[in-house]
Amino acid sequence: MAIEASVLILNGPNLNMLGVRQPSVYGTETLDDIEVACQERAEALGLAIDFRQSNNEGELVTWIQQARGEHDGIIINAAAFTHTSIAILDALTLAELPVVEVHLSNIFRRESFRHHSYISAIAKGVICGFGFQGYLLALDAMASLVDNAAL
Ligand code: DQA
Repeated sequence: MAIEASVLILNGPNLNMLGVRQPSVYGTETLDDIEVACQERAEALGLAIDFRQSNNEGELVTWIQQARGEHDGIIINAAAFTHTSIAILDALTLAELPVVEVHLSNIFRRESFRHHSYISAIAKGVICGFGFQGYLLALDAMASLVDNAAL
């Protein structure tokens, strides 16, 4: 049997509060619900996932550094760090893995400070505005990216 590609799915600050956090913006699903949905989609796609959340920028940077050599791609919703973190951009750059950026909300319909993303500079693509379904779309995209890389 072929070895499954492994995808690291990272979630940034305050995403542990999904379900109670501004449901009109972020939906009613909890992060656990999203992880279960991702697990199901990943299995259907033949991908293995490692799903994590941290409120700590340094922890996210360390996990991204460790992904090099351990995972085949990174899906990231860096939450507010999207708009502030050159450290996460640098870590994603050195990881040398395909990156898909996800946001639950459509950041371009919101405050102007959310319109700029440091992560988009390194991402293969960005999915935003589709709620938790965005994670599933990101997995679909990642399946093709890791497939193409294996060719
Ligand atoms: C978010 C959008 C960010 O602007 C915000 O800071 C978040 C969540 C989203 O998923 O829509 O925490 O990344």
